[in-house]
This record gives sequence, C-alpha cells and structure tokens, in this order.
Amino acid sequence: MQYYPLEKIANLDSNYRRIFRLAGHHLLLLVHEDKPRLVDNICPHAGYPMNEGLVLDGQLRCPMHGYLFDLENGKCMASYEGPCEGIRVYELVERDSELGVYL
Ligand code: FES
Repeated sequence: MQYYPLEKIANLDSNYRRIFRLAGHHLLLLVHEDKPRLVDNICPHAGYPMNEGLVLDGQLRCPMHGYLFDLENGKCMASYEGPCEGIRVYELVERDSELGVYL
C-alpha cells in the first residue's frame, strides 16, 4: 500500500468536490455535513461517474439512474432494477494538515 496525498484540509469547504484517478481507482472526494468522504466514483450499476450526483441525508445519488449509496458504508440503499452492489468507502488519513489515502 502506498500513501497518496489528496487535499489540504484548509481547502475543504462545504461545497468541496473533486475527482482523482490514482493507482487504478476512480475516486470522489467530497464534503457532506462538514465531514470529508472518499468513495468510488464509478457506479456499480452501469459504470457511470457519480461526481455530479446529489447528496442528501448522507446518501449519494447516481446521476444516471438514481441509485442511492450510503456515504458511511457504501451500501446501496435504493435501486430500481433489483439488488445492487455497494460502493467502496475509503479511509481518509490526516497527515501534515492534508488528507490522503492508502491504496
Ligand atoms: S449507472 Fe448509476 S444508477 Fe445506473
């Protein structure tokens, strides 16, 4: 595993949202209710990027077909074509006034 720096903590305001492509991962870093979250940016349903999806009540809504994913654990909370996989939620690491991730 290798550490990848992502963003200075001072830059994380409530509207923050940024995508990363690191070590083969498509990642979305966003802030929701003052808490930064790092999740997969590829929807498990049909592979659409989710970085423009709405976030409401702790859930990220895929902009393509509207599947909902819990930002705490990645679990799929609503789908319209049967069961769906969740997304991965990554542990963020604080180091020297920035956030990063081990991948
Ligand atoms: S691609 Fe995300 S819900 Fe279909």
